Amino acid sequence: MGAIILWSMTTPKILVTRLIPTPGLLLIKEHFQPDVWTPDQPIPRDELFQRARGVDGLLCMLTEKIDDELMDAIGPQLKVISNMAVGVDNVDIPAATQRGIPVGNTPGVLTDATADQAFALMMAAARRVTESERFLRAGKWLNWSPGLLLGADISGATLGIVGLGRIGRAVAQRAQGFNMRVLYHSPNAKPAPGARSVDLDTLLRESDFVSIHVPLKAETRHLVNADFFSKMKPNAILVNTSRGGVLDQTALYHALKEQRIFAAALDVTDPEPLPMDSPLLELENCIIVPHLGSATRQTRDKMALLAAQNLLAGIRGEHLPHCVNPQIYDREKNA
Ligand code: GLV
Ligand code: GLV
Repeated sequence: MGAIILWSMTTPKILVTRLIPTPGLLLIKEHFQPDVWTPDQPIPRDELFQRARGVDGLLCMLTEKIDDELMDAIGPQLKVISNMAVGVDNVDIPAATQRGIPVGNTPGVLTDATADQAFALMMAAARRVTESERFLRAGKWLNWSPGLLLGADISGATLGIVGLGRIGRAVAQRAQGFNMRVLYHSPNAKPAPGARSVDLDTLLRESDFVSIHVPLKAETRHLVNADFFSKMKPNAILVNTSRGGVLDQTALYHALKEQRIFAAALDVTDPEPLPMDSPLLELENCIIVPHLGSATRQTRDKMALLAAQNLLAGIRGEHLPHCVNPQIYDREKNA
């Protein structure tokens, strides 16, 4: 009895908000007895509040809003927030920083998978893959025709990358293999070999494909808006694998409907899931897939493992392998 009480008093309390891939879950279970939300849907907010109260470590998904109110409800013993994603726009970083709580994310391991997805969407939009498959399944393929479902060339075209972080760079690298000319706009980014840094207006004026790779922040919300579309080429294709909030969907709808650009391909929407009455779904020249940038088996295994490693380090009071607010450690040093 005494041992059980001691165990429960000294064992850190962990909440994992979703059934994550095995490598991550196994690592956590080697050390703790986590509370894991197992239904295959995001944990409802009231349930999250109840179960997170009093935890020392939280491993969460991009489907959970981790805000000031939740951090208050969890309590001052909270040592780490580990988000199983590279994007952390679902976490109030200043609120965590103010409390001295490190926030972990999963960069690097999903770079190639997400760049592949951006490229897959770009090619699918250029060659009208989803539209032509719908055409075939609807029984409309009556004969070969010289003008049937014509798309756009990729080889020799210009790709404009907005946001040259890890993923933007990996897209640039792929584009070179496809013999594209690559421009980028990314203030303060290190140059990328074979790609040219230009201002945003030049990028939009010259690019046949524009791919978005910026994080969602106050400054990037609706960066892709009516003004942005008005500067693009009429044959241009827009690809977004970053966050839905970076793009103004009403402006996109009008740009596509009025054929001011050729097509768009979205991995992300705002909100998610996209309501089935979204006007974007009426358009043949808009590809939309359900936020699958990092969705390969191997990549999700690596993300889960890295999220578990961040969690473990945070509980032990060690620096997280990937921390988005490392300034909390400087404060410790200066204290
Ligand atoms: C997914 O969108 C991620 O940020 O990892
Ligand atoms: C994400 O890892 C990025 O830096 O693009």
